[in-house]
Amino acid sequence: MKMLKKFAAIGIGVSMLVSVAACGTTRSGTQEQSEAKTLDPSKTLVGISMPEQQLERWNKDGQNLKQLLEAQGYQVNLQYADGKTDLQTSQIQNMANQGAKIVIIASLDGQATGAAAELCKENGATVIAYDRMIMNTDAVDYYTSFDNEKIGEMQGKYIVDSLKLEQGATGPFNVELMSGSPDDNNAKYYFEGAWKYLGPYFKSGVLQSQSGKVPESVDRWQSIGIQSWDRQKAQSEMENRINSYYNTGVRLDAVLSPNDSIALGTVNAIEGAGLSYYPIITGQDAENANVQAIVQGKQSMSVFKDYKKLADAAVEIVNAVAQGQQAKTSTTQNNDTKDVPSQLVVPEVVDKANVKTLLVDSGYISAHDAGLE
Ligand code: BGC
Repeated sequence: MKMLKKFAAIGIGVSMLVSVAACGTTRSGTQEQSEAKTLDPSKTLVGISMPEQQLERWNKDGQNLKQLLEAQGYQVNLQYADGKTDLQTSQIQNMANQGAKIVIIASLDGQATGAAAELCKENGATVIAYDRMIMNTDAVDYYTSFDNEKIGEMQGKYIVDSLKLEQGATGPFNVELMSGSPDDNNAKYYFEGAWKYLGPYFKSGVLQSQSGKVPESVDRWQSIGIQSWDRQKAQSEMENRINSYYNTGVRLDAVLSPNDSIALGTVNAIEGAGLSYYPIITGQDAENANVQAIVQGKQSMSVFKDYKKLADAAVEIVNAVAQGQQAKTSTTQNNDTKDVPSQLVVPEVVDKANVKTLLVDSGYISAHDAGLE
């Protein structure tokens, strides 16, 4: 850590020298200095480390980023880690050893990726955390993501609105809660956001959970986590809860599902258990299969996170870095070591009412993929 700080200090010193030189002295001096501080894209390797390929979103994120960067002339090394933290670490280490100047990382486990990010920094790379923060290290230069707490708020609010709680409905309503993977830092924000809306109603007794799987406090969100956001694990969990508590005429009103893979697992569990109705089910990512489930009335909503906007934000950072500039960011996010300059994209709620205008008419997906024709 100390070494890294020293490295950063040397970096600042160098860039100060560069700007002083750029301001004047000899012509050749200026040229040399500006060559030193800018990167020629065709000689610049950008590493992209994505967590896995099971989810549609990471495939779209990875391919789109690669295409955008290659179109601008960069060399790109895109790797998927197959859901394996050790593999991701070694893939990132390889990028560092290959001399990548910029490394974009969507971590499987934000705590575990720190060491590999530090190696990148030691080798002179700029590190961009993508979608998920890299925790507890000063080796992360930028963070680009969606407003993750807002995503959870959208899910919680959707349940509150659908059950008309703010209009005074007293229930009590049965809600089953799940959170995302315990090793994914984002999952904490999703639950925190949702709990802002749901927590007060659980406290007042308007909302309740027959399974009793309600965290004692918001920071115990991992107690209801679905490891690796795995659809099958979510399905088994919900099958157990339905068979134990909701198969005797007790109505399950809503399920807080933090993303689309867990939402699909929930839909499968409901169908498998033979319930004659679908409760309110939330999601996130607007994956094709889930958009179809929304159109069919099986899933209530998803949170649309436009991968193109996220990639654009990352590419802007890459270009600024290559031009030797500080990238423009709108905020900072703390990673338990530093405030990381961050660019956050705004997510949007998608449900049956706006699926056509938001996703199809905008050209994001085809009417066929949305299940509309
Ligand atoms: C991402 C979600 C995704 C989930 C599972 C989260 O960190 O932000 O978009 O659904 O991981 O991959």
